[in-house]
Amino acid sequence: MHPLSRLVVSALFGGLSLLVACGGGSEGEAGQPLPDTSLDTTLRALLAENQIAAPARANAPDALYSLGLNLFQSTLLSGNQKVSCASCHPIGNAGLDNLPLAIGVHGSGSPPNRTGLPLIHRNTPALMNLGTGKRTQLFWDGRVSEQDGVFTTPAGNQLPDGLTDVLAAQALFPLLSRDEMLGPYDPGDDNTMAELNAPGTVVESNPRPVWNAIMDRLRADTRFAGLLQDAYPGIAPEAMGIEHAANAISAFQSRRWYGFGESNQLHGYINGRRVISDSAKRGGILFFGTAACVRCHSGPLFSDQKFHNLAVPQIGPGFGSGAGESPPRDKGRYEVTGDEADLYAFLTPSLWEVKNTFPYLHNGIYATLEETLRHHLDPAGSAMAFRCPATLRSGGNEIACRDSTTAPALYADMVARLSPDSRAPPALTDADMADLIAFLNVLTDGNNTSVR
Ligand code: HEC
Ligand code: HEC
Repeated sequence: MHPLSRLVVSALFGGLSLLVACGGGSEGEAGQPLPDTSLDTTLRALLAENQIAAPARANAPDALYSLGLNLFQSTLLSGNQKVSCASCHPIGNAGLDNLPLAIGVHGSGSPPNRTGLPLIHRNTPALMNLGTGKRTQLFWDGRVSEQDGVFTTPAGNQLPDGLTDVLAAQALFPLLSRDEMLGPYDPGDDNTMAELNAPGTVVESNPRPVWNAIMDRLRADTRFAGLLQDAYPGIAPEAMGIEHAANAISAFQSRRWYGFGESNQLHGYINGRRVISDSAKRGGILFFGTAACVRCHSGPLFSDQKFHNLAVPQIGPGFGSGAGESPPRDKGRYEVTGDEADLYAFLTPSLWEVKNTFPYLHNGIYATLEETLRHHLDPAGSAMAFRCPATLRSGGNEIACRDSTTAPALYADMVARLSPDSRAPPALTDADMADLIAFLNVLTDGNNTSVR
């Protein structure tokens, strides 16, 4: 028993001997249940065994942070100068829009009241803990990744040198996406990069003209010229490339979104500074034990950084080669590897701040943690039983939807390829479910959904 909880117990039940208090599950004089100390012992052992330790916080010099913050919020980075990173990743909300599917280059307004088109293929991830040096796979399909300091990205050998980390490499790709930031080819529109984006141009294999055009815009802007010079005092403006912008964006995101601060509830509990409910403790014991969540949600970020097919209902425009098919589909990790074993597989998401990162899964199909867990506990049954609702919307746009009655072959294929790790999910009671959700709700710092 931790000294602090012993103190709390003896303060609450002053008349009782510690021996009774340590018995667990018994009742106090007034009939209230005593805190069950055997839960603490078990949970603490599981947390230690599973290496749930807080990674170090990334630091960045103020001038670099400030450049990154301003770039992140600047519409100069988008073709039509209407969208910034923050249009989809609001800075005051853990970097996420709370929309099922993100809204792209013709959208307007701020999340979650952002409206317009086009709908992006996937749910916007929160930007928590990306600077802890622990993340090696980025995007839901890991199309930007790092191994032993080498980055693999859709740009192949066109990637610039001098990127500080995988997060900086990632920042180059929203800029090339026609739906997210570059904009479609439309010479009649105010898309000032239309000439770089003509039909037939494959920007990802020839990205440098777009990146250079963005750097030209920044250098020509008095405010950004100053911010660039402050962040990189030793480098002449003409010698700066897109990697200088990307490194600053990475430095900003890394320093801004850290989920293990003083107010983190689970780490506070681990360090003996915070109390969590018995329900959350039981949930934690289930998470690492019979509910076997830790099989995939493992390590300090609660993610194995691997890809699993959970037969998640297929909604939205589809992605990559699957977007052009009938019915459209999102083949997940398969688009990156071309390996059939990766069909419909998506990255195991980290679970820090998960109470705030609704709606859930790669396409935001479920609004609540309960629905998300019910799907996990019977992926095949849940996928087959899913029926497209009369209206499925993201920011006012109707979302295309397929279910097992309208796309039977697709659903049969998804279910047949279910991840081996989720074929025999545990049977959990409603009380277990409530405990698991209580545990997920303490994986929060509380400081990431307010402007700082
Ligand atoms: C139009 C909305 C939109 C804009 C603009 C946008 N993003 Fe995103 N972002 C998304 C979506 C959606 C995903 C997930 C896409 C996927 O996995 O295929 C994502 C993924 C990411 C990720 C990966 C997170 C993870 O956990 O894997 C990072 C980091 C990120 N964006 C940063 C940025 C930065 C930096 C910018 C600006 C340069 C930016 N985004 C612009 C919507 C957007
Ligand atoms: C077989 C591996 C695996 C197991 C076991 C597993 N998960 Fe997941 N989990 C995933 C994957 C993969 C996703 C994302 C799937 C997708 O979007 O297609 C996910 C998504 C989630 C999400 C949504 C997070 C978000 O930000 O969208 C939550 C919450 C979650 N899991 C909790 C749990 C809990 C609690 C358990 C134990 C009952 C569990 N998971 C067991 C692999 C797993």
